[in-house]
Amino acid sequence: MLVNARDMLTKARDGHYAVAQININNLEWTKAALLAALELDSPVILGVSEGAAKYMAGFGTVAAMVKAMDRDLAVNVPVALHLDHGSYDACLKCIEAGFTSVMFDGSKLPFDENTAKTSEIVKLAREKDISVEAEVGSIGGEEDGVIGAGEIADAAECKKIAELGIDFLAAGIGNIHGVYPANWKGLDFEALAAIQKAAGGMPLVLHGGTGIPEDMIKKAIGLGVSKINVNTECQLAFAAATRLYIEAGKDKQGKGFDPRKVLAPGFEAIKAACKEKYTMFASAGKA
Ligand code: 13P
Repeated sequence: MLVNARDMLTKARDGHYAVAQININNLEWTKAALLAALELDSPVILGVSEGAAKYMAGFGTVAAMVKAMDRDLAVNVPVALHLDHGSYDACLKCIEAGFTSVMFDGSKLPFDENTAKTSEIVKLAREKDISVEAEVGSIGGEEDGVIGAGEIADAAECKKIAELGIDFLAAGIGNIHGVYPANWKGLDFEALAAIQKAAGGMPLVLHGGTGIPEDMIKKAIGLGVSKINVNTECQLAFAAATRLYIEAGKDKQGKGFDPRKVLAPGFEAIKAACKEKYTMFASAGKA
């Protein structure tokens, strides 16, 4: 069932677990994330970057596909359809298109502009009961052309943004998108504790969920992280499984070239990666 992400994240914060945001790229990704959630009785957030939406023909196509799939698969766990790292214009489009949740990423704007635009999005989203994520302190790494240097968010700025009526807050704590380099220093838990306090206990979002060790995930959840975004890990799992299929020459055996057969191992790999995350984040059984 398609819902906004407000209640599921408040419940996650209170219950000391986190809901996974799985970024989707196509029908297979969407179905894998949803079936994994159904099998484990877990809530899930489907994240859509502007680049992924463009790839899928637009926000309207994505919203229509997700709504129809939710119905056709009789999904009875809470599912939010969420814009990931949205510009102001993308937020407006998603609010129109039927998304249930949006992230306005004003982290690269001057702080005053970030607060002003975040406030406007909150006002517009409220009218349709859409939840809003905002960001302070950019997340490092590169995702769909969005490049951040990986700042540690300023707690005073987090407090100001949290007071604008947003529902959950993404704040940089040394996390980065993509695979972590071997010399990564790890998450900054002191900064996270200060942000949790400054943000008044609001559910916090950890971006760059790929490859964060389980002990750090658990510690972050203990400090108020209620949503963890995962993208690269599913992409790597999909690519590795597809490579195995092709390298084994399976596309050349019988009807192995059928796209439904070619994409099947990658689909199963995404589904397995999602299940691993729902279990690690302890959202399994919490629908
Ligand atoms: P990863 O690609 O590192 O998993 O990060 C995903 C993310 O934070 C999406 O916003």
